[in-house]
Amino acid sequence: MSSEGNATGSRVTLHVVSSLDGFIARKDNSVSWLDVNGKVYEAGVSISQEEAAAFVKAIDCYVLGSRTYQHALELGWPYGETPTVVVTGREWPPARESVEFYSGDLETLVHMKLAPRFRNIWLVGGAMLSQRFLELGLVDEIRLTIAPVLLGDGLRLFGGLLKEARWDLKNVVAYKNGFVELSYAASTA
Ligand SMILES: NC(=O)c1ccc[n+]([C@@H]2O[C@H](COP(=O)([O-])OP(=O)(O)OC[C@H]3O[C@@H](n4cnc5c(N)ncnc54)[C@H](OP(=O)(O)O)[C@@H]3O)[C@@H](O)[C@H]2O)c1
Repeated sequence: MSSEGNATGSRVTLHVVSSLDGFIARKDNSVSWLDVNGKVYEAGVSISQEEAAAFVKAIDCYVLGSRTYQHALELGWPYGETPTVVVTGREWPPARESVEFYSGDLETLVHMKLAPRFRNIWLVGGAMLSQRFLELGLVDEIRLTIAPVLLGDGLRLFGGLLKEARWDLKNVVAYKNGFVELSYAASTA
């Protein structure tokens, strides 16, 4: 897809939080590395709860791999009632009304199932599913939030990618809590 999304106007944004050294999960799956350390980066911005809520409300659909789904259930489900598609080759017991399971071709998922129904589609991991989406050219925007921590080991976000690909920097936001959000659009060059 192009940086403008596809013909229906829908866009797929890959959003994940990474450590400084490129990991999105510890080997034991613990998430304390995502906690803020209380240090303030004075030149950074902060967003109000209302702004954060409005931002989340604008997301029409989440897409996640089954391991991320499993972890999200354990953590207490951060996706509310927003429609969520879990990509899996397995049968799962129904857990929430907003969740549907999909197994099959990812291009069909995006172009035939999601694009006609949703505009602002957020792919939220994990690494395996994100890499497949990237390899297939199904991501319009990468939003990478960098946490101020080196993990040394864990699950690499881009570890399995085989091809070089250029992306255009679109925005950088530094937050008071030391996290930095980098936004890139798929390069059309
Ligand atoms: N830091 C962050 O922002 C962030 C974000 C998301 C996730 N995470 C972490 O990342 C870890 C999970 O990531 P992960 O890379 O191990 O797994 P994942 O991408 O969440 O899930 C992998 C699973 O998705 C299914 N899948 C992937 N590609 C598929 C395809 N083309 N067709 C059909 N099914 C497909 C398969 O499920 P089946 O085995 O069921 O067939 C596969 O085992 C967790 O620790 C999670 O907490 C971190």
